[in-house]
Amino acid sequence: MSLTDSNRSNSWEARDLRAVLHGFTHLGTLRNKGPVVISRGRGVYVEDSNGKRYLEGNSGLWNMVVGFDHPGLVEAACEQYQKLPAYHAFFGRVSEPAVALSEKLLEIAPVPMDKVFFTNSGSEANDTVVKMLWMINRGLGKPKRRKIVSRINAYHGVTGLTSSLTGKDYVGAFGLPLDEFLFTDCPHYWRYAREQESELEYSARCAGNLEILIQSEGPDTIAGFFAEPVMGAGGVIPPPQGYFEAIGAVLRKYDIPLVADEVICGFGRTGKLWGCQTYAIEPDILVASKCITAGYFPMGAIMTTKAVTDQLNAAAEQYEEFPHGFTTAGHPVGCSIALKAIDIILHEGVFDNIVAVAPYFQEQLATFSSHPYIGEVRGVGLMGALELVGDKPTKKPFPPENPVAEAIANVALEYGLICRPIGQAIVLAPPFIITRQQVDELFDKLRRTVAKVTGI
Ligand SMILES: Cc1ncc(COP(=O)(O)O)c(C=O)c1O
Repeated sequence: MSLTDSNRSNSWEARDLRAVLHGFTHLGTLRNKGPVVISRGRGVYVEDSNGKRYLEGNSGLWNMVVGFDHPGLVEAACEQYQKLPAYHAFFGRVSEPAVALSEKLLEIAPVPMDKVFFTNSGSEANDTVVKMLWMINRGLGKPKRRKIVSRINAYHGVTGLTSSLTGKDYVGAFGLPLDEFLFTDCPHYWRYAREQESELEYSARCAGNLEILIQSEGPDTIAGFFAEPVMGAGGVIPPPQGYFEAIGAVLRKYDIPLVADEVICGFGRTGKLWGCQTYAIEPDILVASKCITAGYFPMGAIMTTKAVTDQLNAAAEQYEEFPHGFTTAGHPVGCSIALKAIDIILHEGVFDNIVAVAPYFQEQLATFSSHPYIGEVRGVGLMGALELVGDKPTKKPFPPENPVAEAIANVALEYGLICRPIGQAIVLAPPFIITRQQVDELFDKLRRTVAKVTGI
């Protein structure tokens, strides 16, 4: 898009600037370049309202993984809209697709799970989990057990509670986090390990610091620990070797439930169906969203182990219910789409494609490591990041007044590539259906972009 487009008073861009309040959008870029208004999509590509085509290197927001025009998903939605276009899941009522999807999720869960609770988003799901943990502990006669441990740089959502779980400075804009939310180390080995420290040693140090935090706060005040298997919006940070084994041992020692936030990792992103499988994580509660409907419907889902369900049900007795739920959660159309999306991923070759293409994607990503302004190349499965540095030997970032990652994402648009800046990193998470040829196209566009912005 150009400013000329946004200056045409009836263009979509101009109408956007007059009417839309954008979240998570760089204000300077919006002012200078205007928005990109997307009007259609096909396969891994989207097209803006001026007819310009982009390879969607982020699957939208990590979620539109089977393409932008999958007829099976549209059919599933249409069929369900004709049969029962809407229903809720309150008062013991529920639609058939919500039951079937619950069964399906339990069948494919990475560890034995007992029940499923639906929400409309990842934030609502994580928010719900915090409330579940609080209610369980009150039911157990431990009302002081309310503190939740998250990690620096984690992203778990934007509601009041989930912003409090999010370990980013910007939550300070809202006077958050709330007092009961605590933060332990970010598992970013490249950035935070000491000289000569091995990955295993760094993982042990993170686990040691978690134990120190638990002891200083009082183990009987900690209700749960949240972690993404791979930090996504933190800039694609896979855990260092031995990390979840070491952290899991500390949590078990103090009987603290582990909540795996699989909102990004779930359904294949890391190369296995669940991030928990890639990293041998044994969650007590699992949160899924995003790819569950391949982005075609808003949905979040929480899975609980039998022990957690029993504790929640016991706590609910006093109120004769779990007093929580969202009007449109467990929506029959969303559940029908999700059933179809899971079927497409598992049985129409999409998961097989991830397994086949991901090593090539990582190989091509790794070719950027020799670039003088790229300090780290990291990733797993079909997700990856390039960390830009002003000075490679010292890992010194570019100064904030020189937002290179933002510049790269903007120039990439000119070359027909959508990629995303997170801090000083460029993040990629292409659709699961991407072919080797399209991987080549993606990196060719990115290489030309990086060369234009850095001059190298
Ligand atoms: C790991 C993780 N958890 C939770 C969320 C919040 O999900 P939503 O944006 O659907 O509320 C996100 C969103 O990106 C996420 O990446």
